[in-house]
Amino acid sequence: MSQNRRLVYAKPAIFKSHGFLNIANSIKLIPQRDMKMTVQVHPFFDPATYTYSYVVSDAASRQALILDSVYDYDPASGRVSTSSADAVIEFVRSHDLDVRWILETHAHADHLSAAIYLQEALGGTTGIGSRITEVQSVFSGVFNLGPDFVSDGGQFDRLFEDGDSFEFGEHTVRIMHTPGHTPACITYVVNGCAFVGDTLFMPDYGTARTDFPGGDAETLYNSIQKILALPEETKLYMCHDYLPEGRNEYRCETTVAAEKQGNVHIHDGISEKDFVAIRESRDADLAAPRLLLPSVQFNIRGGRFPDEESNGTAYFKIPVRKV
Ligand SMILES: [Fe+2]
Repeated sequence: MSQNRRLVYAKPAIFKSHGFLNIANSIKLIPQRDMKMTVQVHPFFDPATYTYSYVVSDAASRQALILDSVYDYDPASGRVSTSSADAVIEFVRSHDLDVRWILETHAHADHLSAAIYLQEALGGTTGIGSRITEVQSVFSGVFNLGPDFVSDGGQFDRLFEDGDSFEFGEHTVRIMHTPGHTPACITYVVNGCAFVGDTLFMPDYGTARTDFPGGDAETLYNSIQKILALPEETKLYMCHDYLPEGRNEYRCETTVAAEKQGNVHIHDGISEKDFVAIRESRDADLAAPRLLLPSVQFNIRGGRFPDEESNGTAYFKIPVRKV
């Protein structure tokens, strides 16, 4: 399905967003004053899971990295589709970009990652935070994956430690561990931009939930302080936007200054204790994400399905919770 056809079925607010339509209609890179010294950030929005994926490119070398991609999945039928990922592939090819990295900010619990599908099409090295091993261990137990599933992060090409960095064209990408939503969450910082995953959301929506296994509100508070210690003009790119009341456009970009001034959960003056109380009270009312169970099983495998069974079909498990 083409990205334009997909929009036919999207709700009206999407048409005003940074989503597929806008992107499809502005298939040019954002002009910059000094093309040699900038990275260009191109967002893709998946309205089914409210997820922002990004293609980040270096103007001079045309090297690119892809962040938090989406593999479409319908839990009712079990059908998968590659329309979101294909839009990314089309963009990369039409701009003649050289994909070096396919990255995750964390193991997502609300959508499946298209990392492997994209890697097969475009090349590049997959990467995630080194503490993915903790997430794998927990969910290996939850889904009783047995000895065939190894919780060593080997499903990813590169595991990033806090403070790691890598060269990207003329730039350096720095990795900050920013746990709290999950233990493995990381933020990628490059050329005045930070891709914060599920930590902060847009100022009028707040912060990410901390009620998943290994999540912790106090830890998230401290991670967010690390992000807010970046220069005030740093551009922050969200992994999600859920369109809070009072706004009719999806947004993915803000700044450190704007978050410090106006984030509804954690602006300047909110103490750690206050934040933990706000976060935990909100978490108590949140339902499980629609794609939680398939997403986790897919994403801890680095973006792969479980092995096919003897009939040639792969299955996700659904635990029955009696309490
Ligand atoms: Fe998440």
